[in-house]
Amino acid sequence: MWKPPERIRYRTQPGEWPSAAVAGASKLFIPLDYQALSLSARTWVPAMVPWRATESGFVTPDNLDWYERFAYGQPGALVVEATGIRDTASGPLLRISDDRFIPGLQALVERVRAASNGQTRLLIQLIDFLTVRRRPEPEKFFARHLEITDRHRGALQAHDWSEDRVRKALTDLELEELKTILSPREFESLRFGYRERITDTHIAHIADLPESLPALFADAARRAQTAGFDGVELHYAHAYTMASFLSATNNRQDGYGGPIENRIRLPLEVYTAVRKVVGKNFVVGCRFLTEDCIENGSSTDDSSFFAQQFATAGMDFVSTSRGGKFDDAKQPIIGDAAYPYTGPSGYECIPSYLSDAFGPFGRNFAATAKIRTAIRSKGFDTPVVVTGGIHDFQQAQTLLESGTADVIGLARQSLADPDWFFKLRTGCGDEIRVCEYTNYCEGLDRKHKQVTCQLWDRTDLDEPGITRSRDNRRRLVAPQWQSD
Ligand SMILES: Cc1cc2nc3c(=O)[nH]c(=O)nc-3n(C[C@H](O)[C@H](O)[C@H](O)COP(=O)(O)O)c2cc1C
Ligand code: SF4
Repeated sequence: MWKPPERIRYRTQPGEWPSAAVAGASKLFIPLDYQALSLSARTWVPAMVPWRATESGFVTPDNLDWYERFAYGQPGALVVEATGIRDTASGPLLRISDDRFIPGLQALVERVRAASNGQTRLLIQLIDFLTVRRRPEPEKFFARHLEITDRHRGALQAHDWSEDRVRKALTDLELEELKTILSPREFESLRFGYRERITDTHIAHIADLPESLPALFADAARRAQTAGFDGVELHYAHAYTMASFLSATNNRQDGYGGPIENRIRLPLEVYTAVRKVVGKNFVVGCRFLTEDCIENGSSTDDSSFFAQQFATAGMDFVSTSRGGKFDDAKQPIIGDAAYPYTGPSGYECIPSYLSDAFGPFGRNFAATAKIRTAIRSKGFDTPVVVTGGIHDFQQAQTLLESGTADVIGLARQSLADPDWFFKLRTGCGDEIRVCEYTNYCEGLDRKHKQVTCQLWDRTDLDEPGITRSRDNRRRLVAPQWQSD
């Protein structure tokens, strides 16, 4: 992962933990009610992909154990990982693209309900993404993938050559020469692997996204409702389809790109379609970016407008993130696919302890406060969920008291210690395993390996009944906690 050149080391210093009485009386544990969203506490576990589904997207026993473990900590809400809404293979990522996935998801809901004693609201994040291929071997790229055009023939002065000869000639060229002969997209496909964009409207299924996506999201939301979830989080963040529609880089010419009102059109149409199917008592909100954190990307002015529109449309919450784009991702090694958290925008999304003068904690707080103010200025009380480097009580309290946000999201901190919420509330804060923001977990995610935390995955490996990673070296869920 990219790191700021300053490489300043930060250590988490959570300070003093509150007594049970102080914690219990704090804003963090005051219930929240807004429209369909009803939380027992203002705490939230944002979506994190653990790579535990079957290759065809079904819930596995490991998924059940993973989400159950978070539920024991009793956060106010738990968001199940980005789950695919399209019926196409996407590796061990959960899917909700057909009714055949409902029974597995139902079992997941039951496990979370039981483990949290009914204290945790369970949402599922719905995602659509376009094709991203692995970086090819150059020989294969020129032999098979590249479509030979007049541009290549002209540059090589090879109008009467056979196609094979053109391919061979291109294979023998240096990168600098290829840069002038291939189109920018072809050159990118050679160096990074082919990647579809929402602006590729010459491709029929991409031109048709405004037609196809509302129904795909609405069907997925109906399945989530049938499975017993409390709601859905529409994934409008990071490198994926819906965030790409919102992005200032979206210049589609069909009324769904360009001016800001056009860029938000499809996200609103998707929301409307979802709401129509699930009714007003089912939680529907979205996760979106306060800033794209890329050149010519969306700014907090854009996201303030988006937030106002989402609130006006009737969303039950909005949850913020930042960055996480393909645009500035690192070149993958041959055989790997580009990963959107490897460049500067990826750092903004999942910052590590090696940072710049600002540091890894709270990079999205000011931007989130701005979009919340924008929502309130329109007269809406839509809850705003903030996430990013939050691990200590004071920090969380200050965010609520200062009006930065209404709900506190802890992703890696709840992976490091899923009992953070419970320990804090019961006055056992000093037993919390504090995240060190090393991004060991993110490294596993990048390789599509089962995600675990280095603070507990080698602990008590001989404990009876635990499940281990495929290489047998790591336990897959955090040890149970017994208070002294
Ligand atoms: C292993 C891992 C998987 C993640 N998967 C998702 C995901 O499926 N959807 C999503 O919106 N964000 C995902 N994120 C981003 C987190 O939800 C969160 O925004 C980010 O880690 C910053 O918050 P934190 O500092 O509390 O960890 C993931 C992060 C990690 C570390
Ligand atoms: S591996 Fe554990 S300590 Fe390191 S960033 Fe991830 S959750 Fe935090």
